Amino acid sequence: MLPATRVVPKAMLVLGDRPVAQHVVDELRAAGMTRIVLVTGAGGEAIRAHFAGEDDVAFAEQAEPRGLGDAVLAAEAAVDGPFVVALGDALLGAAAVRAAVDAFERRAAAGAVVVEEVPAEAVGRYGIVDPAEPAPAGAGGFVLRDVVEKPAPDAAPSRLAIAGRYVLSPSVFALLRETAPDAGGEVQLTDALRRVDPLVGVHLPAGLRRRDTGTPAGLALAVVEWALAQEDLRAAVVERVDGARHG
Ligand code: G1P
Repeated sequence: MLPATRVVPKAMLVLGDRPVAQHVVDELRAAGMTRIVLVTGAGGEAIRAHFAGEDDVAFAEQAEPRGLGDAVLAAEAAVDGPFVVALGDALLGAAAVRAAVDAFERRAAAGAVVVEEVPAEAVGRYGIVDPAEPAPAGAGGFVLRDVVEKPAPDAAPSRLAIAGRYVLSPSVFALLRETAPDAGGEVQLTDALRRVDPLVGVHLPAGLRRRDTGTPAGLALAVVEWALAQEDLRAAVVERVDGARHG
């Protein structure tokens, strides 16, 4: 996201009327989460300042950018039971978080991940799941045999990508501590998930789509969708888009 993120952290880029991080927090609140821990790295002061007055928000710091698994470990002291992990560069909707919580509970799982089908050429950008049973859409989820982080297209066990929302039991912290960093020096959450048992996947509920706010194109599309959802903006956006199409 450079040069946009030279000074402003990615999570503080504006999507419509608020920073991306606040959309994520709003999604979690709408899903029923009552305590939210924001793990911050470089530029974390802006995030702390933004949420300073919000009683349900606490902070943890990741000292070095050592991967998603390491970021989750940074929140350990604030966690006292099953918890949701929400990545700060994707918006899915509260129903996706609720679906993962529901599958986690129904299956008495140790972990649950929301998945979204991606094109074969995109599997290398995601964690990809290997279902142990048919993976129907709908509530309840399906058991996973394995997960693999950013596989080559011919090594991918499916086209179901981990979409950035997880429900985890605190037992994952011990697994994370035992997880070796990858070639790039990052501790991958996906690598620790390989040892979470049972681990279940659940599809993004019908009608929802993952919005990637971590790329310029993804953020631009998310802004358009946000604007279309605003009653007082919708007509103007449609007119501009129509004008651009025909002009
Ligand atoms: C991370 C996870 C990956 C997941 C993705 C979703 O990757 O490691 O498993 O599919 O988020 O956005 P990153 O985007 O940090 O490379």
